[in-house]
Amino acid sequence: MADLKCNTAGIISPNPFWLASAPPTNTGDQIMRAFDAGWGGAVWKTLGEPIVNVWSRYGSVDINGVKMMGLNNIELITDRPLDVNLKEIYEVKKRYPNHAVIVSLMVESKREAWHEIVKKAEDAGGDGLELNFGCPHGMSERGMGGAVGQVPEYIEQITGWVKEVATVPVLVKLTPNIADIRYAARAAKAGGGDGVSLINTINSIIGLDLDTLAPNPPVNGLGSHGGFCGPAVKPIALNMVSQIGTDPETLGLPISGIGGVSTWRDAAEFIALGSSSVQVCTAVMHYGFRIIEDLVDGLSNYLDEKGMTMDELRGASLPKIRDWKELDLNYKVNARIDQEKCIGCGLCYTACEDGAHQAIFSRRREDGRTFVEVKPDACVGCNLCSLVCPVDGCIDMVEIPTGFDPCSWEQYQSGEGKLAPRPAGH
Ligand SMILES: Cc1cc2nc3c(=O)[nH]c(=O)nc-3n(C[C@H](O)[C@H](O)[C@H](O)COP(=O)(O)O)c2cc1C
Ligand code: SF4
Ligand code: SF4
Repeated sequence: MADLKCNTAGIISPNPFWLASAPPTNTGDQIMRAFDAGWGGAVWKTLGEPIVNVWSRYGSVDINGVKMMGLNNIELITDRPLDVNLKEIYEVKKRYPNHAVIVSLMVESKREAWHEIVKKAEDAGGDGLELNFGCPHGMSERGMGGAVGQVPEYIEQITGWVKEVATVPVLVKLTPNIADIRYAARAAKAGGGDGVSLINTINSIIGLDLDTLAPNPPVNGLGSHGGFCGPAVKPIALNMVSQIGTDPETLGLPISGIGGVSTWRDAAEFIALGSSSVQVCTAVMHYGFRIIEDLVDGLSNYLDEKGMTMDELRGASLPKIRDWKELDLNYKVNARIDQEKCIGCGLCYTACEDGAHQAIFSRRREDGRTFVEVKPDACVGCNLCSLVCPVDGCIDMVEIPTGFDPCSWEQYQSGEGKLAPRPAGH
């Protein structure tokens, strides 16, 4: 079995799977049960000033009967007393010295307030700190969370205050609610942050109740924007992680990847884009701590099959992510329909005819089903038909040699490269 031991900015954990700061890390009891189940680390539910929560907190996007593909919340930081949390952190660390306990923090933007909470978290035995500059709702109205994370100068300043007193590694948790995540990551690094974790939740209104016309989740007839997470946000998180991994100014900055991780495959993707550890919230809220068994087994088997170590997987995809202008314009693919597998549903025809390039021929067969065939000269290889086809492996995208050398937009513009002929009118 592959060695999954992990080092994130100096925070060591037996595997890269951490619980994200959220309801699954509310209490010491939960975190100890999670460690027993196999989780490598946990970021404690954010500690800070005393708050009061509303009693209706979550809303969900269900897609085609699959529940919680996206989860929205209007919950604030921990509502448990600080001294109770600190006592429990101490207890968990005493009993689980080899697991990573990271303490998430959010206080008002005053140097003394940050110094004080950092010292308390360290005295309790936290292996690392995570600065919550992310929550887009509630706390941001009070000048904390996302209100800090959206201004690189504030990120740098507060990270600097924390680093004045911190003796354990400091991760800066970034908000995705910003035009370019690289500026936030650079600011975290400039402030002395040892690494970044991302993403926190995406600002959202999950939907309306069309009877009351109030947003969900309803709080006595009203609602508020909240933070969106779960499987639906993974593509946004992957992109932001890759942006930080490829930015020359933050090259090598340790990353704890977060956002929509439910399976070992999701985790492997975050690691291949440069994450050291990965954090999970929604999937645990949905299915419980036991999902860790599949996460650990799946990642370990994958590494064994690939003959790779964790270190080799980390960042392995980054060199393959380029600007569009570097892609080969002469790489040509066409859709190919396997007539043996086709069930004649006609979905590919409709998609291509109305939503793409009118490159599928269709006729009604004698048995009432639809016969479909790709017109190679019109197909631009957009993939749409293969994405809508309900039969696995029925439509393949097949490479068609053009006989032309690779040619990028840059090469074409400079006159260095020559374009292969393209379908007329496309
Ligand atoms: C109900 C709920 C409460 C959360 N509370 C916190 C919090 O206190 N501190 C924090 O940094 N992030 C908090 N988060 C954000 C998560 O830590 C995580 O960044 C986000 O949910 C994305 O991960 P996921 O897609 O696996 O859920 C919360 C998320 C949810 C759903
Ligand atoms: S790949 Fe695109 S253009 Fe080609 S047949 Fe499919 S949908 Fe039409
Ligand atoms: S979508 Fe797939 S199964 Fe349906 S007609 Fe097209 S190729 Fe056949």
